[in-house]
Amino acid sequence: MLHVIERRISERLPAAYLTNEAWLAGYRFYVDQRVIVPRSFIAELLREQLAPWIEDPEGVTSVLDLCTGSGCLAILAAHAFPAARVDAIDISPDALAVAERNLSDYALSERIRLLESNLFTALGSERYELILSNPPYVNGASMRSLPAEYQREPELALASGEDGLDLTRAILAAARERLTPNGLLVVEIGHNRDELEAAFPETAFTWLDTAAGDQYVFLLHRDELP
Ligand SMILES: C[S@@+](CC[C@H](N)C(=O)[O-])C[C@H]1O[C@@H](n2cnc3c(N)ncnc32)[C@H](O)[C@@H]1O
Repeated sequence: MLHVIERRISERLPAAYLTNEAWLAGYRFYVDQRVIVPRSFIAELLREQLAPWIEDPEGVTSVLDLCTGSGCLAILAAHAFPAARVDAIDISPDALAVAERNLSDYALSERIRLLESNLFTALGSERYELILSNPPYVNGASMRSLPAEYQREPELALASGEDGLDLTRAILAAARERLTPNGLLVVEIGHNRDELEAAFPETAFTWLDTAAGDQYVFLLHRDELP
């Protein structure tokens, strides 16, 4: 244990990479440096089964977790919506290898399908009742001054263009074609609420309450998408 604490201090490696485990919403996940350390605010919303936005969690049959990383949100979604089939996409084969291990640990390999894809591109004609995403959202200025611990995480999991919104913009542009008529999109955006609202002044984002405040995760119904 002392050895771990020593490495945490001298190498400034996040503790989760030293112990190969991270906890989110009461669930344990295997992690290593191929994925970011799970900390998404969407986890706490899934713990509440996205109430009141989803009235009948047992009735949800299809979920997509875009940018799945370790698979943590896909696994939490599979527990929150027990009748759902879950697709989980990431562009990084390294991240998908970690996700595969976590699916196996939770015996969910049959219910969650992992796909290597640049956002939606590898999908066929699938549509989902719920699309979740915690995409990369760190802006250029923050990327240039990242604390040492964050520099240990994959850059691909953090950087999202100069204003931090490249991935979010691409998701907003394509989500309508991927949602069922009453489908919901839930996306985490870090500290970029003002920039997002300025970029999409006509869009009525619903900001979801999390322990850290109501500026980090938005929800849109399919017909509210820009
Ligand atoms: C912020 S991490 C989120 C991981 C996980 N969902 C979580 O909450 O811990 C973002 C993930 O998006 C993936 N990613 C980056 N660009 C992508 C793209 N164009 N298409 C799909 N996945 C992408 C990264 O590999 C990374 O695993």
